[in-house]
Amino acid sequence: MKKINEKEYYEEIKDWDFSKFEIESESLTKWDLYELLNKLANKEAKILDLGTGGGEKVLKYFPKVKEILATDYSEGMIETAKKNLAASGRKDVTFRLMDNLKMDVPEHYFDIVVARNTVTDPKQIYKCLKKGGYLLISGVDKYDCWNLKLLFGKGQGFYDKRPISIVDYENVLKAGFNDVELIPIHEREYFKNKELFIEFLKKVPIIDDFSEEIDDNKDYYSDDLDENILDEYIKDNTYNGKIRLLRRYYGITAKK
Ligand SMILES: C[S@@+](CC[C@H](N)C(=O)[O-])C[C@H]1O[C@@H](n2cnc3c(N)ncnc32)[C@H](O)[C@@H]1O
Repeated sequence: MKKINEKEYYEEIKDWDFSKFEIESESLTKWDLYELLNKLANKEAKILDLGTGGGEKVLKYFPKVKEILATDYSEGMIETAKKNLAASGRKDVTFRLMDNLKMDVPEHYFDIVVARNTVTDPKQIYKCLKKGGYLLISGVDKYDCWNLKLLFGKGQGFYDKRPISIVDYENVLKAGFNDVELIPIHEREYFKNKELFIEFLKKVPIIDDFSEEIDDNKDYYSDDLDENILDEYIKDNTYNGKIRLLRRYYGITAKK
């Protein structure tokens, strides 16, 4: 069993590119973070993306606007993001190091703050937004891949007392935001074969003991995947030759 903290885990990964897993996804719900972002942002917008990873999503899905600051606390991720930026040719995006829990950005500055699959402190986000600005969060919920986690008897958020979606929702409300909405998102993801499925599970912390609680400095345990359990899952969750994962995400929208 390997024990590291969350930051070391991200430093090891260095990017957040899933294209090589050739995942097919089918959405059972309609809410889409990037669709909403593109609708809300005008050309003059200033956008902050928290926990940006290797910048893959910003460079591909964020609209071209006046200014995008995209931050992450992992040096490895920011290094990857800068390489991806150079290859993209975009001029409106800047990547830099920042801890989401110790934000050092100007107050009343951004029109939109985005935080996808990362930890947030809504009080700090509130301060850096202009009046009327938007916060868009999306995350992976406790019941994500629940049938897989049940088989393994562990996983991301498995022991959390309350789903992270509820914790985030309440923290956004407490920070003073208006028009706060919590949207459950259901998706089906399909993998072409066992090899791609295993590679994917090794990259993401779905069945590792990776707590979702806001304290970011706890330890995290990673095991080798138990192949017998995986085979059992694959036997029961293969449809038309493809392995299915049932994903549970959530979105939060809020206005200052
Ligand atoms: C699952 S990835 C998501 C990346 C990207 N937002 C996306 O949607 O693809 C989570 C990212 O959040 C970053 N992260 C986690 N905790 C953080 C913190 N306290 N401050 C800044 N970044 C953090 C990690 O380094 C990692 O790059």
